[in-house]
Amino acid sequence: MRVAEREAAEAFGADRSHFVAGGTTMANQIVPRSLTRRGDAVLVDGNCHKSVINGLVMTGATPVFMRPNRNGQGLIGPVRASELAPETVRARIARHPLVRPGVRPAAAVLTNPACDGAMYRVGAAIERLGASTDAILVDGAWISHAPFHTLLAAGAAMRYQMYCAR
Ligand SMILES: Cc1ncc(COP(=O)(O)O)c(C=O)c1O
Repeated sequence: MRVAEREAAEAFGADRSHFVAGGTTMANQIVPRSLTRRGDAVLVDGNCHKSVINGLVMTGATPVFMRPNRNGQGLIGPVRASELAPETVRARIARHPLVRPGVRPAAAVLTNPACDGAMYRVGAAIERLGASTDAILVDGAWISHAPFHTLLAAGAAMRYQMYCAR
């Protein structure tokens, strides 16, 4: 198993890789449960799968939702870059009724691709959000093949490193 995980990390361009046996649902619960605790704030892409919410319910962390973009045809896309900016995050935290003002979010969750298939430029999104939190979970349940396709590679999260502002 250890060899397989190492080889997967190499294939996906990551430092490390861990397999889960319970689908993305399980991964989406493991990450919040290992990074957050009761009272923490977590930035959550409104596109998120219910397993992310389940994970937060189990830890008692509070989701602070970031609103996804929606076009004139009703298609739901990713959260706009402006919504990921530090000043917008601070303002969202400040007016959230259940979160202590000024608190630094313990983590953030992006769903890539969004509900209707539009993708983030994940590197740029991580760079923006990384100013507001130390951990970002990118749920790429639909595109595990992304690193191996030229058109999708910019959406492959495992190859990106997070450089924290702190
Ligand atoms: C974005 C996203 N995350 C997580 C899941 C859960 O995946 P799984 O069925 O592998 O547990 C799904 C399932 O559709 C999904 O669309």
